[in-house]
Amino acid sequence: MRGSDIGHSGWWRSAAIYQVYVRSFADGTGDGVGDLAGVRARLPYLRDLGVDALWFTPWYPSAGADGGYDVADYRAIDPTYGTLAEAEALIAEARTMGLRTIVDVVPNHVSDQHPWFVDALAAGPGSPERERFWFRPGRGRRGDEPPNGWTSEFGGTPWTRTKDADGAPGDWYLHLFTPEQPDLNWTHPDVRREHEEILRFWFDRGVAGVRIDSAVLLVKHPGLPDVDPAHQPGDHPYVDRHELHEIYASWRRLADSYDEPRVLIGEVWVPDPQRMSLYLRPDEMHTAFNFDFLACPWEPARLRVSIEMTLRTHAQVGAPATWVLSNHDVTRPVTRYGRADTSFAFESKRAGIATDLALGQRRARAAALLAMALPGSVYIYQGEELGLPEVEDIEPHRIQDPMHFRSGGIDPGRDGARVPLPWSGDTPPYGFGPPGTTPETPLPQPDDWAALTVEAQAADPESSLGLYRTALRIRRTQDGLGDGPLRWLPAGGDVLAFARGDRFACVVNLSTDLVDLPRYDDVLLSSVPLDGGRLAPDAAAWLRLSPEPEANPTASRSAAT
Ligand code: GLC
Repeated sequence: MRGSDIGHSGWWRSAAIYQVYVRSFADGTGDGVGDLAGVRARLPYLRDLGVDALWFTPWYPSAGADGGYDVADYRAIDPTYGTLAEAEALIAEARTMGLRTIVDVVPNHVSDQHPWFVDALAAGPGSPERERFWFRPGRGRRGDEPPNGWTSEFGGTPWTRTKDADGAPGDWYLHLFTPEQPDLNWTHPDVRREHEEILRFWFDRGVAGVRIDSAVLLVKHPGLPDVDPAHQPGDHPYVDRHELHEIYASWRRLADSYDEPRVLIGEVWVPDPQRMSLYLRPDEMHTAFNFDFLACPWEPARLRVSIEMTLRTHAQVGAPATWVLSNHDVTRPVTRYGRADTSFAFESKRAGIATDLALGQRRARAAALLAMALPGSVYIYQGEELGLPEVEDIEPHRIQDPMHFRSGGIDPGRDGARVPLPWSGDTPPYGFGPPGTTPETPLPQPDDWAALTVEAQAADPESSLGLYRTALRIRRTQDGLGDGPLRWLPAGGDVLAFARGDRFACVVNLSTDLVDLPRYDDVLLSSVPLDGGRLAPDAAAWLRLSPEPEANPTASRSAAT
């Protein structure tokens, strides 16, 4: 038994969690923008896909300066998406279909339209309202230089200067992301209290857990010093500071006070796996996204190191690993794996790189079988199951992502992974709106996606959707998958092969040759058909191993013979 079958306490240890980027999932009202009505209409699709939970990126009122991560009101739904009553209905309906709901909380910053920030600007320098944020005078004789030399996560300075009531230049405020996302001061008791109330608000509405945005950035060194490259772990002025742990421990107590306990899932981007595991101690978060695996190139040795390191560091704190190939911030795997450099790094994100999409597609299918076979939980970002590529030719005037603008147009931004899903039909908007409507979607869909629609793929078991559906079904029912141990099997250097449970094996061929498989009774699933019983390059297979290969070698088929 596994996944949601385990019962209360452990569903998240093995879950397959599907990320819904609401704007681009499905439009239920016909205005071209995805919404809750669209999600509700498509819940059967998600149930049939075979996932256990849905994580919704922020659905709150927002001016949309950063894809909804600029939240103006944490207790309401953006009117473009629907109403709170609809969200409540969605949470309840999803639950009746066996789908739990995770909401995104954004504690590091608020929207500049949030009442707290509006009040802080109005109240002026030195006011208590400003103490909830980081307002500081500028440096230099006229105060026209930013208060320190930090760099925004999106490039440039993270400080913006305000104007005083008389129009004269005033203090600056800190925003690690866009100027529309002022950072909160987490030493302020209001900030802590407010966020615990926000958690309660959603937990009381039946959500199963929260995804914690920018989870390692909340706490700043009170003196806001410049970054010392030789800083001690935990003493960077704003990343991964010691004080964070106490905040998450208090969130954990809150989450544990519910029946069923709610789950904390951290967006913990820290390069050091040991530092990451500190957030996953039994009294802090339950799980965190595995960005090391997500960013790992399609290279056998690197993947193996990433997997082993992940399992080792998670085991130290008793937390299950997570396996993530994509999300709304990163290049779609089909595109990334089709390039010469198959790793992901924000710093090196460029458009117009030569890409072999057929190769990328092939590797993405193999990577999916790898991720779904590894111990722990797995995340699937909407459209990943359809094998959508990154859309790289969005016209400049339709680009929305601030990352693009703040990089001076060098970084293509993240819109290419956020294009509305194709559901049916031959031309845009591919059934994105309600039946009979053809709304224009704010982010354009490519003209050549007819074969990638849900409708086109649903009929074809060999499609990407077919592969995901079958894999998720097997993952749900097969003994040994999800949480639990892994045993590496002997294999050539460029092959990853491991067993789960008694007789399940996953083999991934990252070499350039056909490879033999361990002795098996059945091929449960493969990302491409086997070739004379052997596994082709850039492919993966799930096998049911022969029971006692040494004792009874003739009783089973073996590709090696
Ligand atoms: C997280 C989100 C990203 C957002 C940022 C600021 O990294 O995933 O989309 O831009 O936080 O909230």
